[in-house]
Amino acid sequence: MNKRVLAFDVYGTLIDTHGVIAELGMALGEQAGAFSQRWRDKQLEYSFRRGLMGAYAPFSACTREALEFTDRALGTDLSEAQKDRLMATYAKLPAFPEVAEALTRFSSAGVTCVAFSNGTREAVEGLMVQAGLLDHFDDIISVDEVKRFKPDPAVYAHLRERTESEAQDTWLISSNPFDVIGARHAGLHAAWVRRSAETPFDAWGGEPDMTVTDLLALSERLG
Ligand code: LAC
Repeated sequence: MNKRVLAFDVYGTLIDTHGVIAELGMALGEQAGAFSQRWRDKQLEYSFRRGLMGAYAPFSACTREALEFTDRALGTDLSEAQKDRLMATYAKLPAFPEVAEALTRFSSAGVTCVAFSNGTREAVEGLMVQAGLLDHFDDIISVDEVKRFKPDPAVYAHLRERTESEAQDTWLISSNPFDVIGARHAGLHAAWVRRSAETPFDAWGGEPDMTVTDLLALSERLG
């Protein structure tokens, strides 16, 4: 039997991008939640647009530019120092609570696990070290190695090349529906981590191969 490879998306799947809310709350009070959501949505939009334009830049540039945009759009008038602090917080975002235990289960079962992200290797490694998760991964694979963003088929092909895995043995694990759809479009299996029952899946006529509420639930199915 071929060895199964699980490729974990990072932002939103392992790492909680809304971990900036406490920092935002100090500056913006109850606007913090709305700001955080708009910032995240814009960051992803910028990665898609840069991909279409053929104007790749490191994901952290999308994050910073989206922060500037959100500040303008919501009229929050953050200072440069506040924006710098938010970017520093972004580099130290927390993992979701069940992630460490779930990854321990996968490692004990001998499953190959890689982190697979729009973030650069350096950014992802920094997050994994902060969260104490680095040792659980066999490798970190960044789209930066091919200068394209998810869901470009080139990044999923790159994942398979780097892990030397066949499409049918490779699973993308992601909370982001666009990532799940992109991986399936490229012939991989994909599990959707639906952390909130209120999050809808895109109505594109296809479903994830598997839907779970968190990574512990995933470990019962794929561990
Ligand atoms: C990532 C983005 C999609 O980590 O959140 O690749």
